[in-house]
Amino acid sequence: MRILKVDPLNPEDDILKIASDMIKNGKIVAFPTETVYGLGADAFNPSAVEKIFRIKKRPTGNPLIVHISKIEHVNELVEDLDIRRMKVLERLWPGPITFVLKKRSNLPDIVTGGLNTVAVRMPSHPVSIALIDMTGPIVAPSANLSGRPSPTKAQHVIDDFKDELDAIVDGGETIFGLESSVIDLSGDHPILIRPGPITIERLRNIFPDLVIDVDKIPSSSFDHYMTKKPLYLFIGTVEKIVKSILSFVEKRKKNFVLLCSEETKNMYPDNFRKVIMGSRVRPFSIAKRIFDIMRKVDKMDVDEILVEGIEEKGIGFTVMDRLRRSALRIFE
Ligand code: TXA
Ligand code: MG
Repeated sequence: MRILKVDPLNPEDDILKIASDMIKNGKIVAFPTETVYGLGADAFNPSAVEKIFRIKKRPTGNPLIVHISKIEHVNELVEDLDIRRMKVLERLWPGPITFVLKKRSNLPDIVTGGLNTVAVRMPSHPVSIALIDMTGPIVAPSANLSGRPSPTKAQHVIDDFKDELDAIVDGGETIFGLESSVIDLSGDHPILIRPGPITIERLRNIFPDLVIDVDKIPSSSFDHYMTKKPLYLFIGTVEKIVKSILSFVEKRKKNFVLLCSEETKNMYPDNFRKVIMGSRVRPFSIAKRIFDIMRKVDKMDVDEILVEGIEEKGIGFTVMDRLRRSALRIFE
């Protein structure tokens, strides 16, 4: 695998040219977006897209997001988009949000798993924008093995794929640390099918008739964000969380690590093995680090991972969506 290091804010053209030539030649190249790293391939090359499914071990019924760098790309992918809808897309793009729209028939079926819709996103990360400018539309699922936590650092991608990948553009840590919000605009009402970095509070300002239905996403039946060690999530008020963790540990006598917050870290005995996720008053700090922490503690010499829930408000709603999917059991 080639590791192509770039300046994340001002990526070097000559390095990106290597990556874009590889993509144009049907190779798979991982690259950073502002949410998580993506596994990129030419959206119009079915055999390259097929290779993504294969190396990621992704079920073919789970379609991919097509990434673009300019609004004109939309017309290559999407059918029947009226001006009003186009204006809405332009309000939120570039950014950490994906829209499901009616697919144009020229886009290979393998991209969308045979659906008549396509998921499209214009990322705002300087590396993604500059790369896609060179290649045209790129499909990019999160660059993790299917079922694992999404990658927020180049090393996570390298750990999951080693030599199965042709190259990675290493642009350092991603910014939000959680995958994009996904809104389905293909029907009568906009439906939020995956919460992401754009908070629901903000989305409701733009889509007053927004419906939330996270079971509508095609991937909802597959495993997600799984650590190798069992992960137990504790939810409720902060007081209740601390109390139930203390009594859980008391009874089990297992070798565990606890993911807790700045605010609660001193409420547990000194001999607890703890990793601080961040501060409850700055939930973006938790969002940014949570997948990295999940991967780190998974390598520790422990039997299980206990995690404090956080308030399901703003970005906290998205953090909790990911933790709930990851948890083997939730204690309320
Ligand atoms: O932030 C992100 O969105 C990252 C970065 C790399 O852009 N990508 C990402 O891709 O998270 P992936 O493949 O891991 O997740 C895409 C999600 C899946 O849950 C998939 O089922 C859904 O989008 N999806 C894709 N196409 C769809 C479609 N036509 N209709 C409904 N959902 C779709
Ligand atoms: Mg994913």
